[in-house]
Amino acid sequence: MVHEHDVVQGMTGEELVGLARALKIPLTNRTIPRSRLLDTILKILETLETAGSKPSLHSPAIKLQSVDKRFGNKFAIRNLNLSIKPGEIIGLVGPNGAGKTTTLRIITGIIAPSRGTVAVDGFDMKKKPLQAKQRIGYIPERPTCYQSLRVREYLTFVARVYGVPKPTMLIRLKEYTELFQLKPLLSSFIGTLSRGNLQRILLAGIFVREPPYVLALDEPIYGLDPRGAWILKKLVRKIRDEGSCAVISTHTLEIAQGLCDRFVIMNEGDVVGEGTLEELLAQHKSALTLEEVFLELTGGIPEEQGV
Ligand SMILES: Nc1ncnc2c1ncn2[C@@H]1O[C@H](COP(=O)(O)OP(=O)(O)OP(=O)(O)O)[C@@H](O)[C@H]1O
Ligand SMILES: [Mg+2]
Repeated sequence: MVHEHDVVQGMTGEELVGLARALKIPLTNRTIPRSRLLDTILKILETLETAGSKPSLHSPAIKLQSVDKRFGNKFAIRNLNLSIKPGEIIGLVGPNGAGKTTTLRIITGIIAPSRGTVAVDGFDMKKKPLQAKQRIGYIPERPTCYQSLRVREYLTFVARVYGVPKPTMLIRLKEYTELFQLKPLLSSFIGTLSRGNLQRILLAGIFVREPPYVLALDEPIYGLDPRGAWILKKLVRKIRDEGSCAVISTHTLEIAQGLCDRFVIMNEGDVVGEGTLEELLAQHKSALTLEEVFLELTGGIPEEQGV
């Protein structure tokens, strides 16, 4: 709530009036002083905050059991078992074609496994797909979106689909528009955005929803500028501390090493290494970094092969 207070306090007069309307505060006197309007809004928000209980994720938030995915005769994933608790950030790493995107698409329910079960927030993806998908926030490898919607329309559309109450939506839109520096883009059509900007919009579209989230982010750093990447890392850590969880695929191992609590290293559809950085380093005595563990597990260190 303290945090929402800051966002509301930073709102322009016009934004406050919009919020007051959404909260059904009568605006009979058009010259209400800002401080009085702000007080009334903050009091109402506080009551709303204390009235509702915060949702939390079931544990494990993501559970994959004995998952295979075959495309024709070829296994993209073989016997994958994964259990991720609320409050964990998992780094999914592996060479091209290892099965990372396939794993994330299975977690989100976009594709079904050939064998095995998937549960998200305690709901079986096959039996309760809507409940399982409700908390998922997904950034695909090749981001696409409704080309002919304007950015503002897309963000309000997402908020409405996920049942975010209007006052909350206005506060979050303000917050994430500023955080991701989207203001100049709000009236642009999605179809005209650069890759990095589209990625920011998709991220804002996730965070405008009610936390906690089960994030499945496929190469979310790729395409973002350094500031965007920094904000994303900070935000993922913040929502992790609030009880969300994230699976993040990335080739940027320095970022993975600094951000993730645990790693799953895949190679040609198999999990070839798993654990915290300390555990992986303890298992691979000659490695000093995640990169060296990765290279050892996925075909050897190039210098040793004469590169
Ligand atoms: N729809 C599909 N049809 C056929 N084969 C597929 C399909 N999707 C993925 N594959 C195959 O599954 C394997 C794993 O692919 P996946 O996209 O999961 O790899 P990745 O780890 O995400 O790789 P990258 O680092 O290049 O993104 C690859 O051999 C790929 O060609
Ligand atoms: Mg991929």
